[in-house]
Amino acid sequence: MANTVIIGAQWGDEGKGKIVDMLSAQCGAVVRFQGGNNAGHTIRVHDEQTILHLIPSGILHKDTLCLIGNGVVLDPYVFLEEIDRLAERGIDVSPVRLAVSKKAHLILSYHKQIDKAREAKLVGQKIGTTGRGIGPCYEDKIARVGLRAGDLTNPALLREKIRHALLEKNTLLHELYKLDPINPDTVTGDLLALAPRLTPYLTDVEARIEEISAAGKDILFEGAQGMHLDIDHGTYPFVTSSNTVSGNAATGSGVPPSFFTRIVSVSKAYTTRVGSGPFPTELLDDAGTYLREKGHEYGATTGRARRCGWLDTVILRAGVRVNGFTDIVMTKLDVLQNLPVLRICVAYEYGGKRCDRIPQEEGALADVRPVYEEMPGFEDGIAGCTSFEQLPDTVQTYIQRVEELVGVKISIISVGPERKQTIVRQ
Ligand code: GDP
Ligand code: IMO
Ligand code: MG
Repeated sequence: MANTVIIGAQWGDEGKGKIVDMLSAQCGAVVRFQGGNNAGHTIRVHDEQTILHLIPSGILHKDTLCLIGNGVVLDPYVFLEEIDRLAERGIDVSPVRLAVSKKAHLILSYHKQIDKAREAKLVGQKIGTTGRGIGPCYEDKIARVGLRAGDLTNPALLREKIRHALLEKNTLLHELYKLDPINPDTVTGDLLALAPRLTPYLTDVEARIEEISAAGKDILFEGAQGMHLDIDHGTYPFVTSSNTVSGNAATGSGVPPSFFTRIVSVSKAYTTRVGSGPFPTELLDDAGTYLREKGHEYGATTGRARRCGWLDTVILRAGVRVNGFTDIVMTKLDVLQNLPVLRICVAYEYGGKRCDRIPQEEGALADVRPVYEEMPGFEDGIAGCTSFEQLPDTVQTYIQRVEELVGVKISIISVGPERKQTIVRQ
């Protein structure tokens, strides 16, 4: 392997969890570097499904260390709940195998309340957030009033930071959102009650990465969300509140950019999006319903129905430029079975002209018209295929055409949710 970054190429839910789980068998550690429990990463092994929101998707491999980097926003309650659920199944989630950066910011009750209250108040311009407090927690980080996991060992600092943060938050909650103010002593008390369970997990992530690397082992960096939900490069303002692109794998875990040798894009064979925002290839017809039902396109975090549409190679190409993808993993090809025709968006029509790039003005992506290429569909099931050559000709052609349009090799093909339903191309 190589020190590898895994990035969602679209708007999230591309199947990153499955791929990280599969690749982590060959790695010393898996590091989450951004986002929080807005993520829902699914792994299926022998019909047993695991959905992870915070814990890295390497946790099912007993020799792989799982690290949560400084760039993650950590809800302590969700973290402990996730630990408990895995422990019940006999999975080792002790601090020997799982650790959190002291520099990771904590999501507290007021972040979740503000997230939900703000969404409830927005009319017509809802982002459709997961309501997990992600945006408000990152806001506090940038405003330099956030709490970090390491503060759990310093009750006096914790108490003072919460008191200070709530001076402003309570005005907002009470005056604007008409909600009851939050008592800082309650938040502090609740957090201090959890601290004894959490503090054994605190670590210096940079040092752990250095040790593993020095032992000659490779490290996998697990992105959450997707390229087009990136706060800078995504479909702003319909994005998440972190940088989801590969550059942030360095900042969010404390390694230099030169650390990475492979940067993998995970893309579905079609496109999905949860929440609001432009989606040029969205299908509001029977084909969209077919993709949603056959692909079980319901959110792993919120259960919301995902919007579905054709594969869009304009957004995939944008991802190559910003992330430096070395190769692509294409997932969910099996879901395209039995569609009479397959369409690939190759460019957009915008302002009467053909364009190959995403227009950068806010909202412009909602005004483009996709230009499609068509090819015949396929009827044979492919979920049992174990090599590229076993795939029907149409599927091979589809993959090769996407490679041509995006300019990057598709190195892994996923034909089902199971760990084993994966074709690694030589
Ligand atoms: P993530 O957020 O990128 O990890 O993706 P999610 O777990 O939210 O959503 C991907 C869904 O597709 C999960 O239910 C996976 O079990 C499922 N999945 C992954 N790869 C494949 C595939 O190749 N075929 C099918 N049918 N399902 C897949
Ligand atoms: P994974 O890692 C898909 C979307 C939300 C909303 C927007 C902002 O499973 O791919 P937020 O709660 O982050 O402030 O919401 O981002 N979103 C995701 N969509 N997959 C995800 O994660 C997502 N995480 C956030 O639906 O549109
Ligand atoms: Mg997901």
